[in-house]
Amino acid sequence: SNNSATALAHTNIALIKYWGKKNADLIIPYTGSLSLTLDQFYTKTQVSFDRQLEQDTLLINEQAVTDKSWQRVHDFLNLVRQQSGITENARVISDNHVPTAAGLASSASAFAALAAAASKASGMDLNERDLSRLARRGSGSACRSIYGGFVEWQRGSDDTDSYAVPIENPNLKDIRIVALTIETHQKPISSRQGMERSVTTSPYYPTWVKVVESDLKEIKSAISQNDFAKFGAISEFNAMRMHALTLSANPDFLYFNGMTLDAMNEVKRLRHAGVECYYTVDAGPNVKVICQTKNVDTIANTFSKILGPEKVTVAKPGPGIKYL
Ligand code: DP6
Repeated sequence: SNNSATALAHTNIALIKYWGKKNADLIIPYTGSLSLTLDQFYTKTQVSFDRQLEQDTLLINEQAVTDKSWQRVHDFLNLVRQQSGITENARVISDNHVPTAAGLASSASAFAALAAAASKASGMDLNERDLSRLARRGSGSACRSIYGGFVEWQRGSDDTDSYAVPIENPNLKDIRIVALTIETHQKPISSRQGMERSVTTSPYYPTWVKVVESDLKEIKSAISQNDFAKFGAISEFNAMRMHALTLSANPDFLYFNGMTLDAMNEVKRLRHAGVECYYTVDAGPNVKVICQTKNVDTIANTFSKILGPEKVTVAKPGPGIKYL
């Protein structure tokens, strides 16, 4: 029916990281960021607004959710109701094909799919820019999952001009991401809390803002020049500079564990042996290896031997948002 819609969004991996909000309520970042949408991991979400419902309901992978995640979805639906003028509660049914263990942010695909399905079900017919702005309010990284391939989140300065755009005529089409699953036994600090602590306590934060500005320029020129070595090197540096903001916070924290360091060293060993590859790490222990098609089998085989084949997933550039 009219008040129901289904959307599918893929997750993305940031090569230039988003780490810090200027405005936490509107999710306006201190810096731009740049990501690659992946083909392997996605969220499919159906939203139905229904006057019979006494409250919003949320089902993720067939499980009823009533905790913090429900609250975050409920707050987001309130925003959609406010923008569209509808008052009905919603039934949200979400299938998350992002193995939580793979350590890829599921909030990016989750809020991109929710923004698309909820806005459509509410009767709003948003263009991609406005959809990206809306998804941003759910989770910053979600604004990039509206588009496929390489995507830049332009930081902007307020709600109207902070949104993602696709990189036009991208090169580096044979890029591959080998996602390595590394277990953690620590209770994680969420990216939301972690970035807040970095902004408020790391003496290096102002330098990060400058670094990202130049890293963004450099990586965009590497993409347009089809310069994989430059692209990979900037990605790796940028990720390490982000993690330096956790070590320099008060209290300090760290997303890496011993296996993270081993995997990073293995990437460097491969690289020095002539297998060109680089790494990036998000707010968790998992390592994503950045490579090209010509080396993807060597890299996947090497890590399959170390970690077991079930811990290794090869991803390609993936598509933008789809309505089903
Ligand atoms: C390390 O988008 O999850 O993955 O806006 O608070 O929901 P919120 O944060 P989130 O942070 C992602 C952090 C990152 C880097 C990135 O994806 O750019």
